[in-house]
Amino acid sequence: MRVLVTGARGKVGRAAVAALQEAGHDVRASDLSPPTFERPEKGEPDYLQARLTDAGEAFAVVRGAEAVVHAAAIPEPTRNPAHIVFHNNLMATFNVLEAAIRFGVPRFVNISSETVPGFFFPEREFLPDYVPVDEEHSIRPQDPYATAKHFGEQLMDAAIRRSDIRCVSIRPSWVQHEGNYERNLGPQVRDASVLSPNFWSYIDVYDLADAIVLATESDLPGHEVFYIASPDNVGGRPFEEIVREYYGDQVEVKKPLPREDASGISIAKAQKMLGYSPKRSWRDYLNEDGQLKTGAGEGLFGAG
Ligand SMILES: NC(=O)c1ccc[n+]([C@@H]2O[C@H](COP(=O)([O-])OP(=O)(O)OC[C@H]3O[C@@H](n4cnc5c(N)ncnc54)[C@H](O)[C@@H]3O)[C@@H](O)[C@H]2O)c1
Repeated sequence: MRVLVTGARGKVGRAAVAALQEAGHDVRASDLSPPTFERPEKGEPDYLQARLTDAGEAFAVVRGAEAVVHAAAIPEPTRNPAHIVFHNNLMATFNVLEAAIRFGVPRFVNISSETVPGFFFPEREFLPDYVPVDEEHSIRPQDPYATAKHFGEQLMDAAIRRSDIRCVSIRPSWVQHEGNYERNLGPQVRDASVLSPNFWSYIDVYDLADAIVLATESDLPGHEVFYIASPDNVGGRPFEEIVREYYGDQVEVKKPLPREDASGISIAKAQKMLGYSPKRSWRDYLNEDGQLKTGAGEGLFGAG
């Protein structure tokens, strides 16, 4: 298929482009940064620069695509003014989706976020109703990032009402690759008391890219939302034990757990309906002290 990947120069987009090409798709990449005006390197995807908050630019990049993977966004709400995060993320999603509908693109993969339920960047903190969190969990976002991602999922619901497009929203956990595992997860591997709103979850970027390929190729009807996380928790500790130790009885632990060292996010729906089958773990990159293993820094994001 001719697949457009937006946000193609970001973490998720880069891995998605590589995995889609590996799966044999003809990929067009798009992002904000300028193109290089040189002879394309072998295997380099077609690239088009576009600011997707502009509808005309969005229509120009979507034209000709048979599937769209929309990964372009500001990936969290704390480093840009609130109205920029909200406007950028929501309008880019609206414009790319609108173009896909008008051009009759049959498949749209919307990269949403684990933050949609709301307990990641709230002004008034609250805990999940239960863990592992799944797609049935109540949604109460407060911040501009999570609200825009929630509205993005609602745009997909509206899209399938008004056209034949099929949509998959993926809610990735915190994205890790060989270049940032040590920095991001090392402290939590060493010490479980380093808490995170996602209850020690993460996603390996290459497993996420595999899930994106599955979503792109799937012919699931309508709009389905899937959490995508790595199956184990950061540190590989007994999940129920650490929840009790750090949260007492404030959060229900839903049982049976899929494994003793379960993640704080359930991937059961994606395993069942998408055939998602994650293959990597933080253990492939980090030792028990949270330090990068020798030779584990090689890949698309090379740690150097
Ligand atoms: N990184 C994470 O932990 C994480 C977790 C959950 C969801 N996500 C989501 O995954 C997607 C990709 O995130 P990432 O981690 O790769 O972030 P990133 O910042 O590495 O990449 C995002 C890319 O989108 C591009 N972009 C942003 N606004 C744009 C616009 N208006 N027009 C065109 N391009 C634009 C940026 O230039 C950037 O290259 C985002 O939707 C993000 O919200 C990320």
